[in-house]
Amino acid sequence: MRLTILGGGGFRVPIVYRALLNDRSEGRVTHVTLYDLDASRLTAISRVLKEQAAEVPDAPEVAVTTDLDAALAEADFVFSAVRVRGLEGRAADERVALDEGVLGQETVGAGGISYGLRTIPVMTEIARRIARLAPDAWVINFTNPAGMVTEAMAAHLGDRVIGICDSPVGLGRRVAGALGVDPAAARLDYAGINHLGWLRGLYVNGRDVLPRLFTDEAALTSFEEGKLFGADWLRALGAVPNEYLHYYYFNRETVAAARNADKTRGAFLLEQQRGFYEELAAQDVAAFAAWDRTRLEREETYMAENREAVAMGERDSCDLQSGGYEQVALGLMRAIARDERKTLILNVRNRGTLGVLDADAVVEVPCHVDANGPRPLAADPLPGHAAGLVCAVKAVERDVIDAAAGGSRALAVRALATHPLVDSVSVARRLLDGYQRRIPDLAYLR
Ligand code: G6P
Ligand code: MN
Repeated sequence: MRLTILGGGGFRVPIVYRALLNDRSEGRVTHVTLYDLDASRLTAISRVLKEQAAEVPDAPEVAVTTDLDAALAEADFVFSAVRVRGLEGRAADERVALDEGVLGQETVGAGGISYGLRTIPVMTEIARRIARLAPDAWVINFTNPAGMVTEAMAAHLGDRVIGICDSPVGLGRRVAGALGVDPAAARLDYAGINHLGWLRGLYVNGRDVLPRLFTDEAALTSFEEGKLFGADWLRALGAVPNEYLHYYYFNRETVAAARNADKTRGAFLLEQQRGFYEELAAQDVAAFAAWDRTRLEREETYMAENREAVAMGERDSCDLQSGGYEQVALGLMRAIARDERKTLILNVRNRGTLGVLDADAVVEVPCHVDANGPRPLAADPLPGHAAGLVCAVKAVERDVIDAAAGGSRALAVRALATHPLVDSVSVARRLLDGYQRRIPDLAYLR
């Protein structure tokens, strides 16, 4: 089986490759093609993969290319993990918003809108090319903002594009751990849209054990989301929110923490990653060791400002291993390629699953997957407080998609102004001006 990774020079590729190396079963991936615009990043990442493969018999062959059409030809699966304008773009998304006093974050709020506005045109073109050159390929989209990017791509690829995220599985794993149950045996009742969802139940042998968590204060505050949100708020919700809801429920605090930091997350990673790719350019460097050290530092500092805002200390060591993305991506690929039936939380078209959204809205919900792809499972309706947020943010995502398709400044302003974390139309206008000044890709909005 042939896998193509778009953004193949990206830092997280070795995590995916490690999972491929561990897969010994029949019909596994035998050929990996890494596509990237930047040849030097491809060389750096290939060196890491080569060291990873050294001791493994029949390791998947790795080829690299900067030619998109060549990368797509013959692909059975395409992983999309591109970052348009790299971490420099991310740093600008964050900075412009923070300077206006609103949240500046990779995928949430104004920052996510700016990221979407420059990414959707690129991903739409890629989706068209895949539809033409690899019409039978399945596309697994990691590219953020994953919800709106998947929805924009689905207009060209239909149900053959599936968005994924590691935060719902991470949440499920942590809550199962706090309850002392095996995550593999648990069924998660999770619903929402990407980076905006709630775990409402956790079933073991057909029984919901989540209510038990709310009566056990120690267990409830023993894991990342419990510490972030606090026991009282979780009990008030009767659900455990995705960690990204911290930006909504504690907006002032998270904005203040981000404004107080000397660097945004994007600016920090820009420097860290630059150092890593420079280090790898030297001939005699131990590539895997350098990569793994950098990876660990990245994991340790993930959402550091949010943790600081509530003084909750460091991340748990079990949250530093990753295991999220590659598990979902590999599980999904195997389920489709080998008809291994599985339930996974994925970003797919709604088709009536959440009654408050229309059929084509991409939602993040548990799906049954087999050789025919994913099918969302029936879900209980969202409670009012959740439905309100989901509808508001989905409407923003739609405006971003339409602004990108039509090059419309007015729609881009409307997306910014109606986002729950932007508090004024004047701010929205200044945000778009600021983004257009900093990010030349946005000149198409008129
Ligand atoms: C999680 C989210 C991703 C996001 C990443 C950011 O994994 O699910 O969507 O891109 O965090 O991590 P970073 O290390 O880049 O801040
Ligand atoms: Mn994500």
